[in-house]
Parts: sequence; structure tokens; C-alpha cells
Amino acid sequence: MLLALSILLLVFPASLSAPARDRCTRGRNKLLLISFDGFRWDYDRDVDTPNLDKMAVDGVKAAYVTPPYLTITSPSHFTLLSGRYIENHGVIHNVWFNTTTRQRKEYYMTQFVDDYWDNGTLPIWITAQRQGLKTGSLHFPGTAATYQNETVQEREVEPRAYDYTNETAWKENVDKVMKDWFKEQDLDFVTLYFGDPDESGHKHGPDSPERREAVKKVDRTVGYIRETAEKLGLSDHMNIIITADHGMSTVFKGDQVKEIVLTDIPGFSYKDLQFHLLDYGPTAMLLPKEGLLDKVYNALKGGHPNLHIYKKEDMPARLHYSKHPRLLPIILYADPGYVISGFYPLQNNKGEHGYDNEVMDMKPFFRAVGPDFHKNLLVGPFETVNIYPLMCHLIGIKPEINDGSLENTQHMLISNGETCDSGDDPKSSLQNVFIGLAAVVGFVFLAFVVVTSYNGYKKHKLYSKEIEKGYEDEMQGDSKQTSF
Ligand SMILES: *[C@@H]1O[C@H](CO)[C@@H](O)[C@H](O)[C@H]1NC(C)=O
Ligand SMILES: *[C@@H]1O[C@H](CO)[C@@H](O)[C@H](O)[C@H]1NC(C)=O
Ligand SMILES: *[C@@H]1O[C@H](CO)[C@@H](O)[C@H](O)[C@H]1NC(C)=O
Ligand SMILES: *[C@@H]1O[C@H](CO)[C@@H](O)[C@H](O)[C@H]1NC(C)=O
Ligand SMILES: [Zn+2]
Repeated sequence: MLLALSILLLVFPASLSAPARDRCTRGRNKLLLISFDGFRWDYDRDVDTPNLDKMAVDGVKAAYVTPPYLTITSPSHFTLLSGRYIENHGVIHNVWFNTTTRQRKEYYMTQFVDDYWDNGTLPIWITAQRQGLKTGSLHFPGTAATYQNETVQEREVEPRAYDYTNETAWKENVDKVMKDWFKEQDLDFVTLYFGDPDESGHKHGPDSPERREAVKKVDRTVGYIRETAEKLGLSDHMNIIITADHGMSTVFKGDQVKEIVLTDIPGFSYKDLQFHLLDYGPTAMLLPKEGLLDKVYNALKGGHPNLHIYKKEDMPARLHYSKHPRLLPIILYADPGYVISGFYPLQNNKGEHGYDNEVMDMKPFFRAVGPDFHKNLLVGPFETVNIYPLMCHLIGIKPEINDGSLENTQHMLISNGETCDSGDDPKSSLQNVFIGLAAVVGFVFLAFVVVTSYNGYKKHKLYSKEIEKGYEDEMQGDSKQTSF
């Protein structure tokens, strides 16, 4: 009988060993997306991070992820929210600008320029809301804007001159998201943003003790988030994804370093420019005056060994930072360790980002945990455009057009990317009928095998022994066993 059972399990594993629902994503679990700004992929190497380590054991850890180019905050976060490369979503910089009026708004004020963010690409909150989910966002870049007349339902926009490093405030924000939003208001999807370790990485450098302290703070916060989820009874139906927008690289300083100062380059003059975004880390964009494009380009070309200069349309295709009308005609970027200055080195940061996204220092970390994710699984790197289709799959919504693919992230899921069909899909009901039939055939087969072997056993007994008194009981016992 055991033999028969094993044959049955081999022939019909799907119908007996596991119910179909465990092997597909139902799309009903809550989802929390967290960004710790500037958390480089290897920041846990030189710091004790018990909570991040525990999360890796309980879930999935990627070696690293590749952010979109330009590797700065608002553009990269909008890629997380939309799965589109920056040239496709249009949030091309942290700074809003108008080249005619030469007006410019810095990172914080740009958050409130609706038509800068709402450039034809919908962030996941709006798509999820339109498909009936309840969403929220706390401090995540893009939260303040209105998209096609809609904003994220529950939101908290950070106050001006916000202290990004205050751990007490971090805990209050976690409480708000977990208790008020997920538990009491029953939201389905929330994005949560923390401005450190970016802040400490810029100010003190990525190799500083201050940055290591910031990573410990992140680790404590991750512990607090998971502990709070557990206490509130959320953890068995909530997936948590933790990642970042970019990494951080040490800026070279000192006498040996030949800094990139554009006005030191022969033939370059500010007077030839209509507009410029200079003194913004390792990247710059220029709009030359009418008819002076080639003059400016040729002057800068070859002007510094660590400076790359491109006409917009010649930007390497792999960077996906070429097509959008907002990009200025000349784009510059520096090698790791360098920043681009106009007149003289203005920036006193010890760490910078904005470099080529192939530079390892620009790669963020990625962790995920929850009922839909495998446990204790290390995966290889993938591009952050793929996080959007993963999130849409997890919360059961139909994604907008995007540049990612679930195929690049589905191996992290227990379902391997299979969606549980609602039942009205004809293919799925046919599948169910087939599985049902297989089960029935399996039982008939098993019963047949059991009866046959029992008869054989009985015959054998009859030949070898007298009929025992307990015959009837034995028979009943056997038939019970066959009808499990
Ligand atoms: C820039 O400002 C000019 C003049 O006010 C206006 O006509 C133009 O539409 C603005 N461009 C953008 C992209 O906002
Ligand atoms: C996106 O922005 C560009 C330039 O600012 C503008 O020309 C274009 O019409 C915008 N597209 C949409 C769909 O808003
Ligand atoms: C947004 O609202 C305005 C005014 O109510 C309306 O004219 C416009 O068509 C709306 N746009 C969309 C995309 O719903
Ligand atoms: C940190 O945040 C808490 C809670 O918002 C606040 O009470 C406290 O004053 C802040 N600490 C500092 C040093 O700003
Ligand atoms: Zn930064």
C-alpha cells in the first residue's frame, strides 16, 4: 500500500502534495516599500546589522541592484514608483528649471511642481487606487504631486528643512505607517522614505564612522518595523521591500587631485551658455546660446581626463538618459571621485553620487521579506526598473507600460510569478477540472491497488493460516486507511 501511495504521489504530485493556492500569488497581501536614501549595497559589510541579517535569513537578499542613470534622488525614486527609465518618465533631475526665464527650484521646492512629476507616467499609488486599493506615502519623493488630478490617498509630505537623521522621528513615522495606516485604516500599499544614510554619506564620506553609525540606525529601524508588524499581527499578510535610490562614493580631495573646473578648460566660457546646471556633484547639463553648440562642445571635449562630455543624442544608450525633451543638449559626467565645478570647487561634500550606474559605488541594496517571498535566499543583481512589476504582481494590480519585467524578479517568489486566477478565466477553470479529474483517477487507482493487494494478502493468509477472528476488524481498519 505504501508503494501504491508513493506511485500516486509521483504521478499526481500537484493534486495531492500541495493545494494550488500555495503555488501562486493571490495579490491580497499588504506591501510596504521602504527607501533608505543612499544605502549602498555593501554598507552592511563593516557594521554589525543583526536586524538586516535576520531579515536576510527570513527573506531574500540581492547581491546589489542597479539604479537608473542619473543616480540621484528624485529621478531614481520615480523609477522605483513607475518602472520606467528616467528618459521615459521625465523626472530628469532633482532640480526643476526653466531655460527661458533661467528660474530654478531646488530639490524640496521641486516636489510641489505638479507638471514636472506628472509628465505622462503614473506612479504605482495612482494605478493601485484606480484598481480599488488603498495607498499611502510618507516622505517618499513624488508624494506631494498631483497626477492626472489624483494624489496618493494618505500622505505626509516632509516639512521644509526637515531633519533627516532624527531617530525618534523615524520611529514616529514607522508608528504612523504601521499603526494608523496599515492597521487602523487597512491600507494595502505604502511607501516610506528615510533621508539617511545619504546625509551622513555626503557630509562625512561613505567610509566614515558617522556613516557606520547611520547604518546602525537603519538596522535598528528595520528591527523596529518588523517588531511592530509582528505585534500588530500584520507580518503574516504583509510583504516588505527595502531598497534605496543610489549608493555613495568618496570624493577625491587634496593637492594631488586635478579637480574639474570648467572655466580652467581653454575655450570654455559661461558667456556662451543660455542656461546651465553646474556645481551639482559629478554631473552637469548645458544649454549653449543659439548657434554655439559645437563651439561649447568642442571646447570641452578632451578638456579633462576624467570628464565625459556628450551631445544629448550621443549619450550611451545603456544609460537611457538621452530621449527626453527636458534634457539639455550637452550632458557631462565625471569619473568616480570627481565632481564638476564651474568657476572653482564649490562642493565640500566628502561623498557624492550621480556617477555612471555601472560604478559599483552607485549600487543600492535590496532586501525583501514576507509571505510571498522565499526564505534565506540570496539572488544576483537586477535593475531597479524591475521592482515596479514585482510590486504590481504582489498587490495584484495590472501594471502600466514600464521598462522592467517580472521575469527578472519572480525567482524571489514562492509562486515564481504565477498569479492565482480568479476562476472566471476559462483557461484556469479548465485547469481546475483537469486537476480534479486527475485526483479522482488517482483515488480510483489507489483503491484498486489497495483492494488488489489486500486480496493477495488475504489469499496468502488463507493458504498459510486458519481464518482469524479479528478478520472483520482488520478489514475495517484497512478500509479506513484507504479513505484518508
Ligand atoms: C518657461 O517660461 C516661459 C516664459 O514664462 C514659458 O513660456 C515656458 O512655457 C516655460 N517653460 C517650461 C518648460 O515651463
Ligand atoms: C512632458 O514634459 C515635456 C517638456 O516639459 C512636455 O513637452 C510634454 O508635453 C510633457 N508631456 C506630458 C505627457 O505631460
Ligand atoms: C483634471 O481636472 C480638470 C478640471 O477639473 C479637467 O479639466 C481635466 O480634464 C482633468 N484631467 C484629467 C486627466 O482627469
Ligand atoms: C527628534 O524628533 C522628536 C520627535 O519628533 C522631537 O521631539 C525631538 O525634539 C527631535 N530631536 C532633535 C534633536 O531635533
Ligand atoms: Zn544624496
